Amino acid sequence: MTTKTASKKATTKKAIAKAVTTKKTTSAKAKKPLLSTENKRTVCIVGSGNWGSTAAKIIGENILTGEAKNYFNEEVRMWVFDEDIPQADGSVRKLSEIINTDHENVKFLKGHKLPVNVKAVPDLKEAVTGATALVWVLPHQFIPKTAMGVKDCIDPNAVSISMVKGGVDIAEDGLKLCSESINEIVKHEVAVIMGANVADEVARGDFCEATIGASNKEVADVFHKLFNMKTFSVNCVTEVPSVELCGALKNVVALAAGFVDGIGMGGNTKAAVIRIGLKEMQTFITHFYPKTKTEVFSESCGVADLITTCFGGRNRKCAEVFAESRIQGEPKSWEELETAMLNGQKMQGTLTAQEIMPLIQHHRLEKKLPLMCATYNIAFKEASPKTLFDIL
Ligand SMILES: NC(=O)c1ccc[n+]([C@@H]2O[C@H](COP(=O)([O-])OP(=O)(O)OC[C@H]3O[C@@H](n4cnc5c(N)ncnc54)[C@H](O)[C@@H]3O)[C@@H](O)[C@H]2O)c1
Repeated sequence: MTTKTASKKATTKKAIAKAVTTKKTTSAKAKKPLLSTENKRTVCIVGSGNWGSTAAKIIGENILTGEAKNYFNEEVRMWVFDEDIPQADGSVRKLSEIINTDHENVKFLKGHKLPVNVKAVPDLKEAVTGATALVWVLPHQFIPKTAMGVKDCIDPNAVSISMVKGGVDIAEDGLKLCSESINEIVKHEVAVIMGANVADEVARGDFCEATIGASNKEVADVFHKLFNMKTFSVNCVTEVPSVELCGALKNVVALAAGFVDGIGMGGNTKAAVIRIGLKEMQTFITHFYPKTKTEVFSESCGVADLITTCFGGRNRKCAEVFAESRIQGEPKSWEELETAMLNGQKMQGTLTAQEIMPLIQHHRLEKKLPLMCATYNIAFKEASPKTLFDIL
């Protein structure tokens, strides 16, 4: 090789190396980190029910006193589906005005003060505009309309997390989950957070755990910073559908647990329902998502959430009275029970049971999911609560 050719080759090599380095630097520059102390994110909680207000309490406190204050702006917006709250003197006050003045959601999280940086915003578009960390926390039947209402004001840098348990639709190739419905509308990654989290206990600061499911680690980190605290210990996994489906399906098992209570059976029977329920959740989830890791079921979103929901929780509570009323020969409807027992809160297990039943039938899973089918038949097909164990 001549000296000239050798030097030409070396120059070309240098040029290529420079180009690679420059390209790397440019793309590294273009991709801003999702968490940064310079560009703090603004949080908007879309929903202000029992769990939404609890989320506001956790996030507000974390931003005021925890590491989160380095990455998030102090004010935490909470969209409030506003309503009039009657006062003792006969007057009425707007719920949003009460939250902003008294720092308490007296309708959905009574007895727990919200941090002062939580701001109730009754106008949905105003709440979402400019927000870059969106927390979706509404009963799932309200999600599509709400998300559609703000699809044109979503910030291009926003990331989302869904705390919604339920919202399972049929899609051509299997299921469409609530996080996917949100993603379709907002057009960015939507993580989920599920766990053994009965809101009032979380709000009073009892220790508990939760699971974030996010396929993108950076998105997981954003929400881990926002939620994780001493009394709310959050673990992240890389699967979204399994975590989300655990949160939806456990509410169906909770109906069965309520039927057990309503017909007067004890702890052994409840434990059997929980064990069979967990197996069926696993069967359902792995049928549609075969790559699901078994470990997900031992996270807070799996076995722990199932246990707490089958002992506490509104679905179990209403199902108990539903079964009791049938045993006593004075059957009450789900609508009656929801109105009488939940003070504006919504049941989720009944809707989810109705959503998954066509899927179970379509995929011929009846024999593999006897508890879920029996629960559906008791809830909607006039079967006696005592038939729960006929085919187990
Ligand atoms: N409460 C809990 O302990 C808990 C725990 C974990 C997860 N979750 C899940 O969180 C989600 C939200 O539940 P929650 O407990 O915060 O709600 P909730 O049942 O306590 O309250 C209902 C909320 O819906 C709002 N609402 C009523 N009509 C509406 C409408 N037409 N459009 C929009 N909003 C309307 C009400 O103002 C209220 O904020 C659910 O998916 C639930 O399964 C709840």
